[in-house]
Amino acid sequence: MWDLGDAYERYVGRWSRPVAVEFLRWLDVPPDRTWLDVGCGTGALTETVLAHARPASIMGVDPSPGFLELARQRVHGATFDVGNAMELGDLQADVVVSGLVLTFVPDVPRAVAEFARAGSFVGSYVWDYTAGMQMMRHFWDAARHVDPSAATHDEGLRFANVSGEEPLRALWSGAGLRDVEVTGIVVPTVFRDFADFWEPFLGGAGAAPAYYATLPAGQQAAIRDLLESRLDAGGPIELTAKAWAVRGSR
Ligand SMILES: C[S@@+](CC[C@H](N)C(=O)[O-])C[C@H]1O[C@@H](n2cnc3c(N)ncnc32)[C@H](O)[C@@H]1O
Repeated sequence: MWDLGDAYERYVGRWSRPVAVEFLRWLDVPPDRTWLDVGCGTGALTETVLAHARPASIMGVDPSPGFLELARQRVHGATFDVGNAMELGDLQADVVVSGLVLTFVPDVPRAVAEFARAGSFVGSYVWDYTAGMQMMRHFWDAARHVDPSAATHDEGLRFANVSGEEPLRALWSGAGLRDVEVTGIVVPTVFRDFADFWEPFLGGAGAAPAYYATLPAGQQAAIRDLLESRLDAGGPIELTAKAWAVRGSR
């Protein structure tokens, strides 16, 4: 789990933290509220809530016992337990949040209905896989050029039902939430050089690295070389990452 956590951190965890900070700034929740972080993973959003939102309490739930164990070791001041977005049981909080989780959930409308049942104020965000999460977009564009069957793995196509302004607005409104707002959060993702961009794709954590690991060596080299020719101009590679954020009240 530590290895997986480290690989995830190098791949995309390092870029999700600034999104969590911007998301909380946008939510603008007063202090002393109770919070529930659904799909907390290793606790990146949970610890950002503790650092920036002065919660009365916060609980993180996730189906992965390994991630929860890492969260307990890393994040102090929160409680963590096993839980599933689609079945929150009797959990209740003033604020329910969920960061970069909905694209993993099989029945998204059911999960959002659970968020709306458990919380008075509900906010979430997902990467803009179609375009604005440029690091992943570059990867999938190159992969599809080399291997047309990569389209079946491309998160931009797989998550079009969730990852966009209109889908999120419809999900929140469909769960009976009111004053629904959606915004785009864009953060810089500056890579020191091509190696800093590329090496995290070799770590196996995340959809793109997992797909890449299944390819024969020739296709792997072709994707890498294509990306290098498109991105490497000899200095830092300055991209941006965009997430769609949504909020609403019960
Ligand atoms: C990309 S990680 C995000 C973790 C954390 N929220 C963050 O911002 O870094 C996605 C998380 O969703 C969790 N997850 C997957 N399916 C889930 C479900 N049905 N209910 C709740 N969480 C789920 C995974 O275990 C994983 O921890």
